Amino acid sequence: MALLNLIRLKLMQAVGVVVVGIALLGLLILIFQTPSQLLRASSSDSLHKAVGDPPPMAATLPPDLASDLFVDVDDGSAGNMLSYRNSSSFLTSIFLGKSRAVCVGSNETLGEVEDLLCLPKPSYDPRLKNPCWWENITQTSNAKVPAPPASVSSLSCLPYFHILCCSKSGTTDMYRRISMHPDLVPNFGSFGKERLWWSWYKYGYIGRRTKSTPKPFDSYIRGFRVLALYLEKAQAEKRQKELKRLITLDGSPLDMWDLRGWTQLPQNRNLRQPAVLTPHLMRHLYRDPKFLILARDPVERLYTAYLFHGMGNSAQEFHEDVEEGIAMFSDCLASAQDRIECFVNASVLESMPVDLHFSCYAVYFEEWLKVFPKKHFLFLRTEDYSNDMRNSLYKIFDFLEMSRPSSQDMKKMLSAPISYHTQRKDVAGPMLNETRAMLREWFKPWNQELAHLMKNKAYLWKDADIDT
Ligand SMILES: *[C@@H]1O[C@H](CO)[C@@H](O)[C@H](O)[C@H]1NC(C)=O
Ligand SMILES: *[C@@H]1O[C@H](CO)[C@@H](O)[C@H](O)[C@H]1NC(C)=O
Ligand SMILES: *[C@@H]1O[C@H](CO)[C@@H](O)[C@H](O)[C@H]1NC(C)=O
Ligand SMILES: *[C@@H]1O[C@H](CO)[C@@H](O)[C@H](O)[C@H]1NC(C)=O
Ligand SMILES: *[C@@H]1O[C@H](CO)[C@@H](O)[C@H](O)[C@H]1NC(C)=O
Repeated sequence: MALLNLIRLKLMQAVGVVVVGIALLGLLILIFQTPSQLLRASSSDSLHKAVGDPPPMAATLPPDLASDLFVDVDDGSAGNMLSYRNSSSFLTSIFLGKSRAVCVGSNETLGEVEDLLCLPKPSYDPRLKNPCWWENITQTSNAKVPAPPASVSSLSCLPYFHILCCSKSGTTDMYRRISMHPDLVPNFGSFGKERLWWSWYKYGYIGRRTKSTPKPFDSYIRGFRVLALYLEKAQAEKRQKELKRLITLDGSPLDMWDLRGWTQLPQNRNLRQPAVLTPHLMRHLYRDPKFLILARDPVERLYTAYLFHGMGNSAQEFHEDVEEGIAMFSDCLASAQDRIECFVNASVLESMPVDLHFSCYAVYFEEWLKVFPKKHFLFLRTEDYSNDMRNSLYKIFDFLEMSRPSSQDMKKMLSAPISYHTQRKDVAGPMLNETRAMLREWFKPWNQELAHLMKNKAYLWKDADIDT
């Protein structure tokens, strides 16, 4: 059968390049360490409710592999894949270099966050532009003589795109403008924009420094019911055009960089550096996500964020905290095997007097580029967005494959009042020149890295030396 041949082929290709001895050694270690864990799916009912019941065999193979193959083959052959022997698919996943990004299962007695890699990729309805899937929900009657359960088909949706970054760079302003497009449906988060799930609620963070219980994937999905309801209605009334147009988003502008929950993922247990991060989880579940990034000059962004979060109130305090922050973070970098250890370490980040790290955009962006090719991202600078809003909005709509707005809608979008302004900055005044000089120096290497990644010198932010 074609599928089995495909697997064999992949296996043989992989074996051809891997030094067999090393691979077998690695395999033995893996088998003796966590044989059942690697193949065990989470048994939590709530997980499966979110994506419908998994096919009978799904619990016994790494869904990451399964879903990758599902992309290559028709849905009809899913059954073949699922009946393929455990050990072979296990082998394939190792030889393809995916040994870490596979389902491990969460241990609820240890209070672990759910393992999203154990969920099968949803069967997205190809008639819809937005990634949504149907589930049959069984409704039981409350009457004394229960009626037979009726099956009701209901839609669940993930966002079509994310505004992944960056806080205090104008993402709310951008969102307010693009949300005037008739095809964009808000979510149930703050401003209809932010769900804060991937970086916060999933791990139980409810603020920069406060924790509560982790929230399941179900709760994330429920936040997109607004769109699901529209689409269910459009489907029932056979309004085909709307199915091909309407989309929703998640505009949580810290999802790119707030990755400090990584130690709670079962795949990262006892690791010094993360093997699995938010992008891996998204790749596993999403179809073809699009990511918008709007980033401001890192120096100015830092000052605005500092005042906005009330980490201090004056230019003088900021100066002292920057000095202390640079010293602390440099210490961490000096003792780390890899810089990423500092950039995602919760206790380091939570003790920083100022969020220097978050303004090092390149470090985090690279983690995403390890998982998603560049074509999934549209990276804009806040300075360019403010200077040429019209063309920036066109760029965004083109990237999202949305129609360009009517001239009337465009006029409305462009004339809306600017909605980013930090009042505490009026009180505190601009930062001190010496602070700015110190920060320019500190951010230089990270900006250079970003400019290199983007192949664009604008990301050196040399034009941003004017006080704003
Ligand atoms: C796959 O593995 C599971 C648990 O490791 C086992 O219960 C099941 O019988 C295996 N299935 C096949 C087809 O070998
Ligand atoms: C979960 O962790 C506890 C405590 O370490 C252990 O006793 C239990 O066997 C684990 N459960 C599973 C399903 O791995
Ligand atoms: C839901 O139920 C209908 C009718 O029983 C069936 O045709 C359809 O395949 C089911 N859909 C799913 C996703 O299970
Ligand atoms: C995070 O940093 C703290 C303090 O430097 C260190 O003790 C801890 O081991 C680090 N955590 C991880 C997961 O590396
Ligand atoms: C800070 O620098 C700006 C521009 O370089 C200059 O105009 C201003 O006078 C300086 N402020 C102080 C307090 O030195």
